[in-house]
Amino acid sequence: MALSRRAVLGIVGGGSILAATGGAGAFLGTRTPHKAIRPWSAAGNYEEPRRRALSYAILAPNPHNRQPWLVDLKEPDSVKIYRDKDLNLPETDPYARQLTIGMGCFLELMVIAASQTGHSVDVDLFPDGDNGPVATAVFKSGVAEKDLLFAHVMDRRSCKEPFDMRPVSADAASALAPFAAITTDDALVADIRELTLEAWNIEANTHRTLKESVDLMRMGKAEINANPDGIDLGGPFLETLMLAGMLSREAQLDPESTGFKEGTRIYQEMLSATPAYAAVTTNGNSRLDQIDAGRRWLRLNLTTTKLGLALHPVSQALQEFPEMAQPYARAHKLLAKSGHTVQMLGRLGYGPTVERSPRWPIEKKII
Ligand SMILES: Cc1cc2nc3c(=O)[nH]c(=O)nc-3n(C[C@H](O)[C@H](O)[C@H](O)COP(=O)(O)O)c2cc1C
Repeated sequence: MALSRRAVLGIVGGGSILAATGGAGAFLGTRTPHKAIRPWSAAGNYEEPRRRALSYAILAPNPHNRQPWLVDLKEPDSVKIYRDKDLNLPETDPYARQLTIGMGCFLELMVIAASQTGHSVDVDLFPDGDNGPVATAVFKSGVAEKDLLFAHVMDRRSCKEPFDMRPVSADAASALAPFAAITTDDALVADIRELTLEAWNIEANTHRTLKESVDLMRMGKAEINANPDGIDLGGPFLETLMLAGMLSREAQLDPESTGFKEGTRIYQEMLSATPAYAAVTTNGNSRLDQIDAGRRWLRLNLTTTKLGLALHPVSQALQEFPEMAQPYARAHKLLAKSGHTVQMLGRLGYGPTVERSPRWPIEKKII
């Protein structure tokens, strides 16, 4: 059943599983975590240009929906952007590479949104090195042209669903080529698919990496509204399973449990339903490279949205913990030039429309 699949998307993959169910409309209505998704409808409702741009930036994709951004607005016309290191993911992201990519997505979205009010933004990255702010951004009025990708900000998603196997056209692939390497070749797609399945299994069967995800699960509407981040497991069907004791943190942590095994099967079915991939690589692997990768990923994701394509990051094979060493090496062999780093790998294809994922409001992120 479709809902089972959605349920298990939360086991390891990260992100939003706002499950819907047939025939339960009224209950569904009452289980929607309205508070957690309110920042989407509040975006743009700010007069002050920096706050207005930031109210969109918080909608950026980011690993495990940690939303690690913090901003300081004390200097006029300037935003100091920090990464909140209390939100680190030490097991799956030991060097905070992925979290830094998420900061790049945030920064790019802020710049795109600022252009809508005519503001250009001068960005100074890591002015004090890795221990200071990620960036100081100075807003200048009346100089920027509107960035047209802004039109797709509200519809952008990470789509954690099976895709249909319609091929991605050569035209679409070339529209995405400025941001990522697009793979549509059948043999290479099959190799990458196998790699993502293997890597997912390693993460799910390594207790400490699995636990890092399970600890970030928000189970049901009340938890999602109280902590609108992490891996949200919601909707009437999943909440019914929770009430029945069939969906619990304990079961999610036990690879021997029936639920976990079924979840693995269905998750792997989703990973398999992938006709193409997108990869963002960089020559080096400095913080600047990681920010650049995030900025490209955000533009890629807005462009896939524009083209009616779905995009879903699948990061397991790119993670730098020892058990992942072999898939990591294979990912680099398949996807990057020698010595380059694969920063992002995503499933690409035609997927269903999915819900908005929770966010903390911008007010919670201002220092
Ligand atoms: C660097 C990075 C790595 C990510 N890795 C994964 C992943 O491995 N699996 C996954 O399901 N989602 C992954 N995501 C997507 C996030 O879970 C998603 O952005 C977040 O939950 C917010 O949802 P949204 O993008 O739909 O707004 C990743 C996102 C980023 C920026």
